[in-house]
Amino acid sequence: MRRDKIAEFRERTARLRMGGGEAAAAKQAASGKLQARDRIIALLDRGSFHEYDLFVEHECRDFGMAGKNLPGDGVLTGTGTIEGFPVCIYAQDFTVAGGSLGLRHARKITKIMDHAMNLRVPLIGINDSGGARIQEGVNSLAGYGEIFYRNSLASGVIPQISIVLGPCAGGAVYSPALTDFVFVVDRISKMFITGPEVIRTVLNEEISMEDLGGARVQASVSGNAHFYAESEAACFEQVKRLVTFIPWNSSKLADPYPPAPAKPGRPLEEIVPDEPRLPFDVREVIRGVCDCGDFFEVQELWAANIVVGFARLEGRTVGMIGNQPLVLAGVLDVDAADKMSRFIRFCDAFNIPLVTFVDTPGYLPGVDQEHMGVIRHGAKILYAYSEATVPKITVILRKAYGGAYIAMCSRHLGADFLFAWPIAEIAVMGSEGAANIIFKGEIAASENPEETRRLKIREYAEKFSNPYIAAASGHVDAVIDPAETRDFLIHALNVSRQKRSVRPERKHGVPPV
Ligand code: HXC
Repeated sequence: MRRDKIAEFRERTARLRMGGGEAAAAKQAASGKLQARDRIIALLDRGSFHEYDLFVEHECRDFGMAGKNLPGDGVLTGTGTIEGFPVCIYAQDFTVAGGSLGLRHARKITKIMDHAMNLRVPLIGINDSGGARIQEGVNSLAGYGEIFYRNSLASGVIPQISIVLGPCAGGAVYSPALTDFVFVVDRISKMFITGPEVIRTVLNEEISMEDLGGARVQASVSGNAHFYAESEAACFEQVKRLVTFIPWNSSKLADPYPPAPAKPGRPLEEIVPDEPRLPFDVREVIRGVCDCGDFFEVQELWAANIVVGFARLEGRTVGMIGNQPLVLAGVLDVDAADKMSRFIRFCDAFNIPLVTFVDTPGYLPGVDQEHMGVIRHGAKILYAYSEATVPKITVILRKAYGGAYIAMCSRHLGADFLFAWPIAEIAVMGSEGAANIIFKGEIAASENPEETRRLKIREYAEKFSNPYIAAASGHVDAVIDPAETRDFLIHALNVSRQKRSVRPERKHGVPPV
């Protein structure tokens, strides 16, 4: 082979791999950000990245763009592996025209998206971009549209992961929003539809980019992000961890891990207090039953009154969901409904069984919630659980009142196995509220109303605030010793492995989104 051809190839490749050049790279580093190529290398298994379309060039001739050299057109695309799992990946290169998205840049992205769909492997996008390339006008908008279209068609077929490591502004935010998981990093990620300048001009309000759409805001206030990290390196560790819990695509199961025992810890019956008003951390219960206590929480900082995340039971991935009595007493509200229904639908789409732990006083009452649409949002939970055909196992730990009893994957929404601890209270409402309503007249007419109230509360509690009435009706399959919870869950999952649920034939449902 001609040596000069090889040398020329090497020289061209090296030049393109420099991205936007030394000055732009220095600016990127000064803003605390890794270079696009280094990000991919840090995330993927060592030596596994294979790049495509490095020689693609932009086609814009307007506004001084003719002849302008934009290496790789500002985006790297390729395939690789993470912990041995194949993935398709792209990373926008901010050092090249601010990572702005022109038509060829977009076409590189849609090409790797099509690869991901054809190969049925996860898609990972690293976003760091000034948005639509202004010089390219409608062509760049077309590019975004083609990405959104593919994000939508890939939904529920392959896992889609977005890592936002820089600006992601305007309509550009809608690609991450359409994907399954969004990762953000402190002080680096910035997501918003309209920036501070527009807000100043139109609304006459001052706000910093950080307070408007920084990582912390997106992870804890808006709920747009699922994972928050302090550094890019920590973020990549989170992505790697996620990939090990989920399958490559919707026709596979997540790869099993070697079965491992639970982590020795406080007995479950000591974690949950008898007194229904006393809080406890449901994550302690989840960690107490899963393999090695290894629980990977999703959206930890947002809507913390519900806890969702991945864990393993005897090596197999399960989606864990639990009311969190530590926050707002574990009520269901609009954000909790959005958080859990989306998680349920992800798990169902990707064959991940659902385990639900219940301890909730009900839906959050109040004008705010009603006006924010708690009816519409709350309905999402009912829809998601009813729609899900994966194995569904529910454990009522303590309170399961009213509509929330139904919503938290009750038998009536298709739970395959429903277990209750001996302290479980399954009722229309708490015994105090119930006695105050149904014995109102009797209490008022009695000589000692307070004493009568106390007696009536106890009478109601003894009658209904236990799991045995529900067990007598078959709504609960077994009242179990808390110490046997892991054993019952593992057995239920093992016997559910061939579960098939038939749903009515239809194009698709119309969930209350
Ligand atoms: C073309 C762009 C660009 C863009 C940045 N650049 N954004 N080029 N189109 N959208 C270029 C800059 O001209 C500059 O080029 C280089 O990238 C680095 O940008 P700086 O401004 O120097 O960087 P920085 O100070 O870090 O500021 C980053 C920024 C800012 C906050 C992102 O660049 C910015 O506000 N850009 C415009 C953002 C925007 O309004 N985008 C359009 C959004 S609308 P040189 O050659 O000087 O190095 C949109 C619609 C999508 O995206 C709709 C989809 C449905």
